[in-house]
Amino acid sequence: MVFLNGKMLPIEEANISVLDRGFLLGDGVYEVIPAYGGKLFRLQQHLQRLQNSLDAIRISNPYTGAEWEQILNDLIAQDSSLDQSVYLQVTRGAAAKRDHAFPDKVTPTVFAMCNPIPAVAETLLQQGIAAVCLDDIRWQRCDIKAITLLANAMLRQQAHDEGAAEAILISAGYALEGAASNLFIVDAGKIITPPKSSHLLPGVTRDLVLELAAQHQLQHVEQAIPKQQLEQADEIWMTSSTKEILPVTTLDQRPVGDGKPGPTWKKMIEYFSLYKQQLRTGQH
Ligand SMILES: Cc1ncc(COP(=O)(O)O)c(C=O)c1O
Repeated sequence: MVFLNGKMLPIEEANISVLDRGFLLGDGVYEVIPAYGGKLFRLQQHLQRLQNSLDAIRISNPYTGAEWEQILNDLIAQDSSLDQSVYLQVTRGAAAKRDHAFPDKVTPTVFAMCNPIPAVAETLLQQGIAAVCLDDIRWQRCDIKAITLLANAMLRQQAHDEGAAEAILISAGYALEGAASNLFIVDAGKIITPPKSSHLLPGVTRDLVLELAAQHQLQHVEQAIPKQQLEQADEIWMTSSTKEILPVTTLDQRPVGDGKPGPTWKKMIEYFSLYKQQLRTGQH
């Protein structure tokens, strides 16, 4: 069952208008929220980011926080024994005719569904992933979690074409984030991630990694990462809601550090797993 405009219904019966501005113009925003053992991960942070994205494109939030929580919990209650991720999206809705400017009276279309989160493959955790540096071809408002993801899709595909799992996006000589993940490096014992700006998505996993670093007294800083520093980093990690924290062990076909997941990543993934375990038992 999926959620569409106030109703739970089978996915085959969930239909929208071909005039929906999400379909015609990519005029909408989304969130992806993991749920571990039936407990939503960092729900308030995800709902706040949704609010920020909606405000940025002038769509009024169709639901209160409590209503969202109810909708999302109803979806994951279909099988709370599994780890799942909820995908939700709000588009501006269907206007009478196709026109770029925002129409006055439209009702947003709200869609949400949940899917099992496949466990991150053990080989990925043992061996890490390959990444390639690519020029950032996206727009100037990457802080909005917009459904308009063509550039991200092209970049991820180019990475796959080059035998890599993720692209690290470079703009004006600086490494910003991945096609669908945030970027961390470890340099001389210090964890570094680029500061929030309109050039990257403020990742919820990113913020938790910074919190865990502070809590466990690991040196960390939010600082711009020149491409050259990325290339010489001892460790590189990519973070996202569904992939958690993945170690990058090959960058542009060269090994990162000694080519194996690094010691700081090992600590961080342990703290992260502990956090998830605590979430399952209702401690967060
Ligand atoms: C471009 C981009 N950056 C970063 C992230 C990571 O964000 P989060 O940790 O909130 O999933 C995503 C997630 O999909 C993304 O698409």
